[in-house]
Amino acid sequence: MNKTVIITGGGSGLGLALARQYNKEFNICLLGRTEAKLQEAVQTLSQKGNRVFYKVCNAADYEQIQTVLRTVFEEETVHLLINNAGIGVFEPLYSLTRADIEGMVETNVYGTIYPSQAAFPYFKKQGFGKVMNIISTAGLRGKVNESVYCATKFAVRGFTESLVKEWEGTNIFPTAVYMGGMDTPFWDETDHIKDRSRLKSPDTVAELIFSQDDNRSEIFIDR
Ligand SMILES: NC(=O)c1ccc[n+]([C@@H]2O[C@H](COP(=O)([O-])OP(=O)(O)OC[C@H]3O[C@@H](n4cnc5c(N)ncnc54)[C@H](OP(=O)(O)O)[C@@H]3O)[C@@H](O)[C@H]2O)c1
Repeated sequence: MNKTVIITGGGSGLGLALARQYNKEFNICLLGRTEAKLQEAVQTLSQKGNRVFYKVCNAADYEQIQTVLRTVFEEETVHLLINNAGIGVFEPLYSLTRADIEGMVETNVYGTIYPSQAAFPYFKKQGFGKVMNIISTAGLRGKVNESVYCATKFAVRGFTESLVKEWEGTNIFPTAVYMGGMDTPFWDETDHIKDRSRLKSPDTVAELIFSQDDNRSEIFIDR
């Protein structure tokens, strides 16, 4: 029986591109908040590789993520959890609303911490597991009009670096992934990026991640 890779935010962009890569070897479970997007994603994938299915789930909702991951881990042998769900609002700090700030903190930070925490006991019981956290070069240095987004990505960097130390010797491997801009729906609602044609394709980035996924603690696509 094939092992399964869980991808949060798997209905579009990098998450979907990672699904295309990992589906060559693994079953895929896509998590996201919008069912129509997940359904479409599953249809594009399940014609080719291994099994693909989805669960509608907000990665930043503690109860939901506990319930969904319990179901998946009870039914599958999970190889890897990819915490990919993320949102960004790119404006000067003074013009961000409370909803903008809380949304970024919730999805990017809680939406990484909650699934990682929920997965740990199951990985421990299995005796093996991997947690890959999709960060950004925004987790390496501050950027204009990205203050809160960068703050959330720095948080995930600190979280991941800590897990690398905390889980040493457990056979559970955390990985932090850093990349620059990708041409995904992430940029649909903003003009923060002036020329999207200069961005990498998510498939190129997903291929680079997949080829370097060997339990290392950091993957740098861009620095
Ligand atoms: N695009 C870039 O230039 C870039 C660069 C560096 C890093 N990143 C990071 O890469 C990751 C993927 O982004 P992307 O570019 O592929 O953008 P995207 O196409 O907008 O994908 C993000 C996905 O996350 C889902 N999502 C958002 N909030 C969620 C939540 N609370 N729970 C579950 N799913 C949620 C979205 O679907 P629903 O809204 O339907 O849930 C969407 O499918 C993010 O962490 C982003 O910060 C992006």
